[in-house]
Amino acid sequence: MAVFLGIDVGTSGTKTLAMREDGTILASATSTYGLSSPQPGWSEQDPADWWDATITSVKKVLKAGKIKPEEVAGIGLSGQMHGSVFLDKQKHVIRPAILWNDQRTAAECADIEKKAGGREKLIQLVANPALTGFTAPKILWLRKHEPKHYDKTTQILLPKDYVRFCLTGEFATEVSDASGTLLLDVRNRVWSKPLLEKLDISGSLLPKVYESEEVSGQLSEAAAKLLGLKKGVPVVGGGGDQAAGAIGNGIVKRGVISATMGTSGVVFAHSDEVQIDPQGRVHTFCHAVRDKWHVMGVVLSAGGSLQWLRNQLAQAEIAAAKRLKTDPYNLMTEEAAEAPAGCEGLFFLPYLTGERTPHADPNARGAWIGLSLRHGRAHLIRSVMEGATYAMRDSLEIINELKIPIREIRLSGGGARSDFWRQMQADVYGRRVVTINAEEGPAYGVALLAAAGTGHYKSVVEACTAAIKVVSSTDPQAEAKRVYTKSYPLYGRLYKSLKADYAELARLVAEV
Ligand code: XUL
Repeated sequence: MAVFLGIDVGTSGTKTLAMREDGTILASATSTYGLSSPQPGWSEQDPADWWDATITSVKKVLKAGKIKPEEVAGIGLSGQMHGSVFLDKQKHVIRPAILWNDQRTAAECADIEKKAGGREKLIQLVANPALTGFTAPKILWLRKHEPKHYDKTTQILLPKDYVRFCLTGEFATEVSDASGTLLLDVRNRVWSKPLLEKLDISGSLLPKVYESEEVSGQLSEAAAKLLGLKKGVPVVGGGGDQAAGAIGNGIVKRGVISATMGTSGVVFAHSDEVQIDPQGRVHTFCHAVRDKWHVMGVVLSAGGSLQWLRNQLAQAEIAAAKRLKTDPYNLMTEEAAEAPAGCEGLFFLPYLTGERTPHADPNARGAWIGLSLRHGRAHLIRSVMEGATYAMRDSLEIINELKIPIREIRLSGGGARSDFWRQMQADVYGRRVVTINAEEGPAYGVALLAAAGTGHYKSVVEACTAAIKVVSSTDPQAEAKRVYTKSYPLYGRLYKSLKADYAELARLVAEV
């Protein structure tokens, strides 16, 4: 049976997964790398690390899965979105890549809005407002702050597309990742000539855009040698990590939504038409399914808030978990379960790294509100989980407002593995939630895209239907649902009350 490789160029490492044609996972391996922050708010990586990690992880997978080179019939690529790799005429990397979580481009975002003729006009052109993490503001930043580098640039690539270039020698991208550059006409799935003109960026700097399952090139002889594969293996477009993860979760039909609680939290809805939030609170990007789109809300510190709590305040649980040979999160959720739903009036705002959806506010910060003498560790832990879950509900509410039906919510990420957090999600969302048989995320999604794109399935939807099944469901508990329904509106108002103070706080921090 044919084997497909899915390669996901993530922020902390590159994961390669081998999948048999019928969807069975044969092996997966991750090779990690670091991230550098040469100045506060900056976030960079060396693209050479991605390529090294690709080679290492592919070799590991071939060995672990006992896969013969001639069995590999296709490769799919996924990766962290929005990052920018700048190449010169010799196809050499000019400077470290600027990543999705880099915050240096506030001035460039304002500039883009102005040049586009205002925020509304920009949303009309590219379906989204300018956010600091997106690619276009990074290009403007380079032009302004490193003009020598900009002048040398002949090609700009997204992270996974740099790996594609190393694999095939082709400069190519695909619609889902290209949507996150802020330069794609998302409605028509082509680069936006009007915006490129307004920003004075030459279209020749950008790669060719494919649909996600389309073959974008073949494995070169040199790359095949390095990876231990045969030359000529087709490499399909693939997808940005969110769209690819959604394929891996089977989010390919109207009404099916995923809620992924990882470090960040993502609520992802398939959409048959382009649906744009006029306020730009959720992203509207092309889906990795041909001629379909998606709407997506991103909570920057969802599971990340609980991770922060664990690292800063849960030393006792970490020590006990070592003794009991369990995960500290298991002990923390056991404690959280001792506090009642709603935490007796304690709220946590999970904006530790600012927020994207729904506030798009890099100045927002975390806060506990409502602390009293009654509150103990159980309340602190539970309130952090509730805060992250309310933040995810914000995205669901906007999706609902856009009249995208919510028929099934598929949970994934760390928040889906805990019984307690699954129940909390059902209670806070006020809806049934389900889990599926696949847990491998974007790498699995692009392996499915490779299988569909090389003709082993008729379509991406057919590949997902064959491989992905619902395996459990959790219904809301009436009492907890009642408490959360009453509490949620206040959660939403707390940010609004603090918004101006957050801006003041940011000025204060910059000054002192
Ligand atoms: C999506 C986003 C992240 C990055 C890194 O908009 O910013 O998912 O792709 O994972």
